[in-house]
Amino acid sequence: MWNNFTLDLTAPVSRQKQIITFLRDAILDGRATPGLRLPSSRVLAADLGVSRQTVVLAYEALVDEGFATSRHGSGLFVADALPGWAARPAGHSRASASGPRRSTLVLSQRGQTLAQLTLTPARRDVGLLAPGVPALDLFPHAVWSKLSARFWRGRPGADRLGYTDPAGLLPLRQAIAGHLGATRGLTCAAEDIVVTTGSQQAIALAACLLLDPGDAVWVEEPAYVAGRSALAAAGARLIPVPVDGDGLAVEAGIRSAPAARLALVTPSHQYPLGVTMTLPRRLALLRWAELSNSWIVEDDYDGDYRYAGPPLRPLRALASHGASRCVVYVGTFAKVLAPALRLGFLVAPEGLAPAFATARALADRQSPEPMQATLADFIGEGHLSAHLRRMRSAYAERRDALLRALEEECTDELDWRRDGVEAGLHFPVTFNDRHKSDVAVSAAAAKLGLQTPPLTGYHTGQGQPGLVLGFGATSASRMADAARRLRRSCSVESVPRRPAS
Ligand SMILES: Cc1ncc(COP(=O)(O)O)c(C=O)c1O
Repeated sequence: MWNNFTLDLTAPVSRQKQIITFLRDAILDGRATPGLRLPSSRVLAADLGVSRQTVVLAYEALVDEGFATSRHGSGLFVADALPGWAARPAGHSRASASGPRRSTLVLSQRGQTLAQLTLTPARRDVGLLAPGVPALDLFPHAVWSKLSARFWRGRPGADRLGYTDPAGLLPLRQAIAGHLGATRGLTCAAEDIVVTTGSQQAIALAACLLLDPGDAVWVEEPAYVAGRSALAAAGARLIPVPVDGDGLAVEAGIRSAPAARLALVTPSHQYPLGVTMTLPRRLALLRWAELSNSWIVEDDYDGDYRYAGPPLRPLRALASHGASRCVVYVGTFAKVLAPALRLGFLVAPEGLAPAFATARALADRQSPEPMQATLADFIGEGHLSAHLRRMRSAYAERRDALLRALEEECTDELDWRRDGVEAGLHFPVTFNDRHKSDVAVSAAAAKLGLQTPPLTGYHTGQGQPGLVLGFGATSASRMADAARRLRRSCSVESVPRRPAS
């Protein structure tokens, strides 16, 4: 055992620590078996060329940790009473002469599915034209910090700093119910609402509670990747359903998988195509769900932003009593305020809020009380309505500035819907040159400081190449520059597209 041990005199680790680590590892991997007598401190010190005190201190540490025991008068021994796998009988070493044994531990089926999913890594800096990010430069710092300070000034005690209701703070749920009623025509009770850490958790909870592995689910094609991935991670079988100018093609979904268990949709403003689902399509989707006993998860991530007229009525508000029982309505404050607040919510189908709250408690117990309390006051005292009014006009200005800049700079390269961007914080553009690779253009754009993801990245199959442009996080004064950079990015060489395999 000692043959292959030498002290590294140049290592930044003390000699005493090196002896401890060597012996601890030898005991754990079975090379030093229970009851083995260790050399006396005098002999080991002489062999290693260190002071006896160094070895004594190392041995004392091993005794303190329980790896070795000293028997009075007869020396130091590897402890007998090591529980479980550390106390391997002699000859059952984990490290064999031919090298360490390969672990046979494997991820669960679910873990393997999860490990294969890829998400775009989050970045700290926000590139020009980044979609999915609101105007963080216009975050209402003054009001938010005042309300947050008020929570702490009240010297909150055990009732506010301990474990609280996993469904969320009641005043916040009441405020959200009020906001949904006033702005979306969605009537629900505070008791139907579960506060979550954003829409992502709400979608993951819905997948956990409503799906069994192997269940077919409709996902929009193209779709928000993290939402679709949450369903895949739950073992669902994804059935891509095309999105056209009217929104999700419900008839195509019925043809592909009439008995799908669930549909995940963004009807108010499709991500990434920006289409609003027409009323006939919405009613068709609700009818399908009601007749086939399927769930709908309605992700209304940026429904507060409509530039002509009030926000649309969500599916959940349109549904007849029967159909409303199958809709999980999901909302978030990531686009309204900031993603980092990690606050969102779901409106559970009738009678299911307690199950969602339990699932939520098992995942991460609750959302932070100070943040919930601040948001409850922010909504309750009218700051949210005022903020939304300000933001709608700021976003309309940014959107118009981007559309103008594209008209001036990019008409040779890009195409986009000229009939208006009526909602949300992003829209797609496609290339006039059909042989352009959107992945290549997006990469070239990234080198120029842009963050414009390729449209094909949102497809499960082959989609039309293009880019998603966001106007929420880029100020109007930077749009002309952003459009010029975008034009330069489009000069990457075209490649003939390979046929779908
Ligand atoms: C379609 C869609 N849903 C939801 C979200 C937001 O998720 P969260 O509230 O978890 O930040 C985004 C963010 O980009 C999105 O694009």
